[in-house]
Amino acid sequence: MRLNLALILSIIIAVGIVAFGFTYYQITVERSKLNSELETRVAEVAGELSEYDVFYICSSKYDIESFTDSIKHRYNLSGIAIYFSKDSIVCSSSTRRFVKYSLDDISMSVINKKNVSSFININQESIYQFIKPIGEDNISHYAVIYYVDAGYIDNIISKIWFRNFLRWFMQVLIISIITTMIIRFGVLNPMNKTINWLKAARAGDVDILKRQPHTKLLLPLQKEVIHVAKAMFEAKSKAQEEARVRAGTNAIWTPGRLKEEMKALLQNKQLIVVSNREPYIHVREGNQINCITPASGLITAMEPILKACGGLWIASGTGDADKETVDDRDKIQVPPDDPKYTLKRIWLSKEEEVHFYYGFSNEGIYPLCLIAHIRPIFRIEDWHYYKKINERFAKAIAEETKDEEAPFILIQDYHFALLPEMIRKLKPEAKIAIFWHIPWPNPESFGICPWKSEILKGMLGADLIGFHTQYHCNYFLETVNNALESRVQWANYSVKRAGHSTVVKPFPIGIDISSKDLELTEQKIQPSKLLEKYGITAQYTGIGVDRIDYTKGIPEKFQAIERFFEKNPSYIGKFTFVQIGAPSRTYLKSYSDMIDIVEREAARINLRFKHQNWKAILLLTRHHTHEEIKPFYSSSDFCMVSSLHDGMNLVAKEFIASRVTNDGALILSRFAGAVHELKGAIIVNPYDIEEMAEAIKAALEMSSKDQHVRMEQMREEILKHNVFWWAASLLRAMRNI
Ligand code: F6P
Repeated sequence: MRLNLALILSIIIAVGIVAFGFTYYQITVERSKLNSELETRVAEVAGELSEYDVFYICSSKYDIESFTDSIKHRYNLSGIAIYFSKDSIVCSSSTRRFVKYSLDDISMSVINKKNVSSFININQESIYQFIKPIGEDNISHYAVIYYVDAGYIDNIISKIWFRNFLRWFMQVLIISIITTMIIRFGVLNPMNKTINWLKAARAGDVDILKRQPHTKLLLPLQKEVIHVAKAMFEAKSKAQEEARVRAGTNAIWTPGRLKEEMKALLQNKQLIVVSNREPYIHVREGNQINCITPASGLITAMEPILKACGGLWIASGTGDADKETVDDRDKIQVPPDDPKYTLKRIWLSKEEEVHFYYGFSNEGIYPLCLIAHIRPIFRIEDWHYYKKINERFAKAIAEETKDEEAPFILIQDYHFALLPEMIRKLKPEAKIAIFWHIPWPNPESFGICPWKSEILKGMLGADLIGFHTQYHCNYFLETVNNALESRVQWANYSVKRAGHSTVVKPFPIGIDISSKDLELTEQKIQPSKLLEKYGITAQYTGIGVDRIDYTKGIPEKFQAIERFFEKNPSYIGKFTFVQIGAPSRTYLKSYSDMIDIVEREAARINLRFKHQNWKAILLLTRHHTHEEIKPFYSSSDFCMVSSLHDGMNLVAKEFIASRVTNDGALILSRFAGAVHELKGAIIVNPYDIEEMAEAIKAALEMSSKDQHVRMEQMREEILKHNVFWWAASLLRAMRNI
């Protein structure tokens, strides 16, 4: 309020000074214009009355008084006088009162033989006098004095003052009202909201910090505050983490602990991560460039590591605005709003993408390793492109590490099976690991690949090969044993070939979870609230989150839901299964067909059990951010993972991470890598529809005590073996080789 008053007073004074200045200038100009008009008019009158007329009148002893009177009326004068001498001035009686004020000016005019004019003030009356000398031989004897009422000039000037005052007053009034409103609604309200928000955030309420008030004006400030607050929270948790590390080596792995560990392991060298998929994709939407995080377990796992420890991530640039956002070395600092590490983009042509990524990687190796009833396709041109792109990445890595003799290189996934050997040739001293995010098949299955030896040799260029499970390690070693001239040492799970040793070890990947995630920081959202948006009501919900991929068993999951309703009709109208499906690799027919199948199945089942404002399956087929998915995880009664085959499946772990109160149930496919760790899950065979339908019933009807026991065990597990533990174990193993 005090601010308002001060501001309004300042506006009044400022507007007043400006208005006064302008008015003063205006009246100065106006007065001089009116004065000069008056002077011209009187001079014209004086010009019209010739000297001859005056002489004639004077000499003929004409009735001077009536003459002056007639002139006075003819020219609308206030008076006219004729001066003969100091003692002989002829004028009407009404004019006489002016004359005594003019005597000095008349003498001056007669002596100098010059017109004299001035304004005189006679008893509050403003009179303009004009004295014109008349005479012969350059000697003046007489003068005619004209008097005109100049009072109207003052009237006009007063009116101007008054008008301008009124205008000033109105302006001040309107500006003050508008300013008060702007300050109130545009500044004070957002400011108060922001202040309250900051107070809450300062008190450590993370939930409130996330819910920043939407005030455009203060958005940049709020963003900065969020960064500062995050940095403070990070510093605080880092300090707590360090204290925990000091307290014992069994402490939970955290970003801070990993960072310390990395410093010791890498001895200040930077970590190089290589993957095909990039963690941030820049896409053009209209005039805007947006940044999206792809749906990928690999990204979910690797991103927190790079964020914690920094480093360089080399990946294919696939966004249509990627080139516009990098520097001249094709690099960009990410995350874009809080940079922590460098992303270097490698460019692939459309043709290269088709053959390398879609072709050999996703129609060849992927179905070969996943064994999910999609026949692998091996085309020679795809293979050539696969080699070519692996070479391009190898050169880029060599270029980036030219100043380091033994860099640490962590290669991700099946897109780069040849890369370890290629880098080894360029950088013999490098420490190289490749982590295979998908399963490894049995040797017979892998044996159908025409380039099996090249792939295996390529991988064995690494010092360390990581899989999610011991099963996959065993299959890999058996495959090498069958296909290559080499020595497989089962005692220490390693392969010796061409003078180089490679260790093969399981590293079950985890998620970004640390002790602070055990605490309840957010209010649990009711499922009904989430479903409201889709016009659905349901008492119970289940959740599934998958890339739409034929390996994920989504149609099987839907069939199980159908069977569940057949067997348990009392749940019709009460239970809805929410399936979030991120479209993936849609360029390939097997994937676009899968979207159709999934949509058709959901529509068919929904039609079959149609019931008022309710649906059996709510299918949301678009890319969802982590923030969008989280409320579904935390509010659902259970999560269902039905992969026909999967390396790990981090969705299962993310669901568990969200259950801070140890409630809810997890239905998990026995063919997902996660099954080896998550013993508290209801384990199912996704091909057994009957069993899955029973599992849904068991999940919905599980006692809270049972939920608690199972969830607590699984939460302990994912906390202990989180992604920071995973990275530390992998890097330690690399270092120890
Ligand atoms: O499951 C295999 C895999 O490549 C993962 O490593 C990755 O998380 C996911 O698929 C995403 O695939 P893409 O990069 O092809 O979108």
